[in-house]
Amino acid sequence: MPMEGYRLNPWISQEQITSIVKKLAERISEDYGERELVLVCILKGAFIFFSDLIRHLQIPVKVDFVRLASYGSGMKSSGRIEITKDIETPIEGKDVIIIEDIIDSGRTLQFLKDRFSLLNPHSIKICALLDKKAHREVEIEGDYIGKEVEDVFIVGYGIDFNENYRNLPEIYYVTPTGQPKE
Ligand code: IMP
Ligand code: MG
Repeated sequence: MPMEGYRLNPWISQEQITSIVKKLAERISEDYGERELVLVCILKGAFIFFSDLIRHLQIPVKVDFVRLASYGSGMKSSGRIEITKDIETPIEGKDVIIIEDIIDSGRTLQFLKDRFSLLNPHSIKICALLDKKAHREVEIEGDYIGKEVEDVFIVGYGIDFNENYRNLPEIYYVTPTGQPKE
């Protein structure tokens, strides 16, 4: 049920998402081989992407989760980042990939990368389904990017608007009623 005043515009179909996710999984499988890989999912937004991605990997992995409070509510980031659930897997000496739904300002990933670096992993890379590159406020690059997107507000496939729409199987962009993107 759409929220009053907003329209959900279908954007990336289930088929397109599957093809993006498979390609990312192939690249990761090729790059890491038998190394001891720990994949860290950023809750909540990346949970569906994460669960699909790991099932396409052809290499052994361990999984863990972090929960960050960063976006506040609505469409604007609060700029303040807090960790509300930390990883439980030791990552010292391990190869780590952080799995994120969308890179926007880049602040969330910079915060996590800095924090994980203190634990002396062998390497840390970033995999994100979507990248709003034009919106970056800090210098951070994704290593595995599913798709670059323009600055629109996105929901579906795990990604929310005020905690709604995470369950939608495809990706939509949100516009105020009466103003479609194109
Ligand atoms: P950053 O710290 O600004 O890079 O913010 C990244 C976080 O903001 C992501 O984990 C998303 O949860 C959230 N975010 C960024 N863009 C959108 C969007 O279009 N829809 C929903 N959440 C978004
Ligand atoms: Mg998020």
